[in-house]
Amino acid sequence: KKDYSIAVIGGDGIGPEVVGEGLKVLAAATAGSTTFSTTDYDLGARRWHATGETLPDSVLEELRGHDAILLGAIGDPSVPSGVLERGVLLPIRFALDHYVNLRPARLFPGVASPLDVARVAPDGIDFVVVREGTEGPYTGNGGSLRVGTPHEIATEVSVNTRFGVERVVRDAFARAQARPRRHLTLVHKHNVLTHAGHLWRRTVDEVAVDFPDVETAYQHVDAATIFMATDPGRFDVIVTDNLFGDIITDIAAAIAGGIGLAASGNINPARTTPSMFEPVHGSAPDIAGQGKADPTAAVLSVGMLLTHLGLAAEAARVEAAVAADLAERGSAVRSTTQVGDAIAARL
Ligand code: IPM
Ligand code: MN
Repeated sequence: KKDYSIAVIGGDGIGPEVVGEGLKVLAAATAGSTTFSTTDYDLGARRWHATGETLPDSVLEELRGHDAILLGAIGDPSVPSGVLERGVLLPIRFALDHYVNLRPARLFPGVASPLDVARVAPDGIDFVVVREGTEGPYTGNGGSLRVGTPHEIATEVSVNTRFGVERVVRDAFARAQARPRRHLTLVHKHNVLTHAGHLWRRTVDEVAVDFPDVETAYQHVDAATIFMATDPGRFDVIVTDNLFGDIITDIAAAIAGGIGLAASGNINPARTTPSMFEPVHGSAPDIAGQGKADPTAAVLSVGMLLTHLGLAAEAARVEAAVAADLAERGSAVRSTTQVGDAIAARL
């Protein structure tokens, strides 16, 4: 295949700025070999204020027609909390069955970590979190009673189905098997979340039979945060639920050079729908419109998009260009477009 169509959702805050640099690098990395046609979708705070719409059905249907989706960020302080998250981002993840939320954490050479890496991770930091993307407390299965009274009750029920857990666990095992260390850690909290925790644990034990060459380990999520700070080299592939995955991937980003470098893919491994690639960071309204945001996470997300589409050589070139830029970056302050230009120039 030579022609791909990408749906682009810049979204809120710095989203459109970093996505612009991602597209610049995409064009540079694929020039001459492949064409990417892009269609912009106006979703997020602007549309909500103007029309009251979050994700119209017609837009969702159009998204389905593309080969992949590139997203900047969703969320804005001018919109009540949750409206855009539950109205735009999560419905896309759910409707397109993005059950693998893939979040690599890799400390590139020359990049500073807040950890004393020479001491706590002498062999480097290079792991990937396979975060479940369609279940857990994100399903919106909760409710409020006696709102505003001293006896208010709020519940957020974490939904974990055998089907949903098994498919993401199988994906994580397959990813672990394809990596040199072949190690998979389940992160959960089965000492307290006894229902979901036991389902996850049993599922890992059962699926492990099909991957005899993958070594498995278990960490409670609280302990996992300690090890991320004190011994991150122990992790290779981590599989965990939607909420734990959200939390630990922010820590993972922090130790691996900061949230400005963290890329992610919302992936449907069955490929029945387009997968969506986005930086892990949010819309950063405090620096939006100033050309200050680091587009590297968006650029690395483009690399993941290329990998997903089977364009491995192009993806490797993007990664190499980012690695070279990071190695030479130093402490110089550069604008969003300067970083994008510098990476694109290496292609
Ligand atoms: C992320 C974000 C989202 C999430 C929010 C914006 C709904 O924090 O992609 O990590 O919680 O998944
Ligand atoms: Mn998050």
